Amino acid sequence: MNSWWKKAVFYEIYMPSFADGNGDGIGDFKGIISKLDYLKELGVKGVWLTPFYPSPKVDNGYDIADYKNIDPDYGTMEDFEEFIEEAHKRGIRVIADLVLNHTSSEHPWFKESRSSKDNPKRDWYIWKDGEKDVPPNNWESFFGGTAWEWDEQTGQYYYHAFAKEQVDLNWANPEVREAMKDVMKFWIDKGIDGFRLDVINFLTVSNEFKDNPYLENDEQDHLYDKDQDGVLEAVQEISAFAKSHGDIFLVGEVGSEDLEVLKPYCGEGKLDVVFNFNLGSQSSFSVDTIFSEISKMEENYTEDQWPTLFFSSHDMPRHCERLAGGIDPELRAKHLAVLLTTAKGVPFLYFGDEIGMRNLVAEKKEDIQDIQGRTAYELAVRDGKTEVEALAIGNEKSRDASRSPMQWDDSENAGFSSGTPWIRVHPSYRDINVKVEETDPHSMLHFYKKLLKIRNSVSALQNGCYEKIERRGDALFYSRTDDQSTMYVGINYGAEKVTLPDWFDEAVPCSVQLVEEENTGYLAGQDCQIRVDHRGSE
Ligand code: NOJ
Repeated sequence: MNSWWKKAVFYEIYMPSFADGNGDGIGDFKGIISKLDYLKELGVKGVWLTPFYPSPKVDNGYDIADYKNIDPDYGTMEDFEEFIEEAHKRGIRVIADLVLNHTSSEHPWFKESRSSKDNPKRDWYIWKDGEKDVPPNNWESFFGGTAWEWDEQTGQYYYHAFAKEQVDLNWANPEVREAMKDVMKFWIDKGIDGFRLDVINFLTVSNEFKDNPYLENDEQDHLYDKDQDGVLEAVQEISAFAKSHGDIFLVGEVGSEDLEVLKPYCGEGKLDVVFNFNLGSQSSFSVDTIFSEISKMEENYTEDQWPTLFFSSHDMPRHCERLAGGIDPELRAKHLAVLLTTAKGVPFLYFGDEIGMRNLVAEKKEDIQDIQGRTAYELAVRDGKTEVEALAIGNEKSRDASRSPMQWDDSENAGFSSGTPWIRVHPSYRDINVKVEETDPHSMLHFYKKLLKIRNSVSALQNGCYEKIERRGDALFYSRTDDQSTMYVGINYGAEKVTLPDWFDEAVPCSVQLVEEENTGYLAGQDCQIRVDHRGSE
């Protein structure tokens, strides 16, 4: 298994927020094209685009109304084609976010489906009998409230795991599968190199429709509405189809932090990789968790299974603050950048993390753009919470935190747009921006560039397996090796100095070191070091 994606560092572009080329306040393909040289210089080899298809944008594009077109906010099909061509010219491959689980309620398939009970597309979605105001079961939407929507016209409920405008498709229906393969083929023919498959473990639901149980914290345990029978067969079918059209990379979003749930979805004949939420979505920092999750993946993954590495995305607050744990967020982010680029797995860097962007906080309810945040706010008000309490709850759930526009420079709107941005620019943009960091050799941006350069040039970091993984106090040490080189990495997350393991002290330090110390036999507090043994193949 030595596919292109194994060597690549990916960069997630949140479409509306990266770069606006036409001044309407929304990111677009023209804007992204103008930043491709920046991405090339940063060293990324793959770009993940969040959904760019026509959509009412109830959930910013994860509600697709036409799978074979470009949303006018993002440009035209010609813009998209130019983007693919220009990215490829720079050695950057492109993967598209594809939402196979649900369509927008505005999609023509659903409009047909809801038109009558005997419409040929009725069975493309999940319809159930029930009485008005008495949903078929207790299943909850992941955005809050019931997952069933009453349809007046035909007197049945339809199922939606997310917003009511995101209607779940019925993957038990072979016509649905064929329609989606046709969509994949369309984009592969346009030059797409892979897909990020949204909530792929949600494709099937239990056909017994039993009530879900509740957990001790009163949250629903989604026992019957994800990871159900038939889902792995569907994944295999998708994989076989994609792979019959080339070295198409498939990364699945499997919404779980449990490695045992994630594991069955990836490997030979299935998805190439899944997002390892077990490592990436921690809500607070813990060396223990990092060490144990890395070790668990090493022990449990088979040879054809490869991990992913990420700490932020458009669905979670940026990790520099989320995982700061009381220390300087920039320092923490640098420590995690070392892990992201040197541990075993495919790294996914979220836009703006390379400059240390911070989390946006809504100051009033009108500022909340995200449906998850808005729903949480509204439910809190309905529950009798005060305005201040509801705003705090809304902020906690809102994914706007990491969606503010890319901070390119210190001019108005951070250089993101000449118009009014669709979401507020983070107030930090005058100090944290690409332009300022390009001139500062100690900036986060320079640190990432150095790391990506090492990652792209040392094969042990792309293909190497772990030789050793060791934890000493708050420090983590590992070595990765392949037939050409061995990398030694030590990251001291704590303030105490830590003695180097014997096996660590065998090679020359690379240029990445947070604290400039001589080779003293220990890692100073909060230092990190990368060493390489090229075995004569420099
Ligand atoms: C996961 C996506 O990452 C998220 O942004 C979206 O809201 C849900 N899937 C529903 O499509």
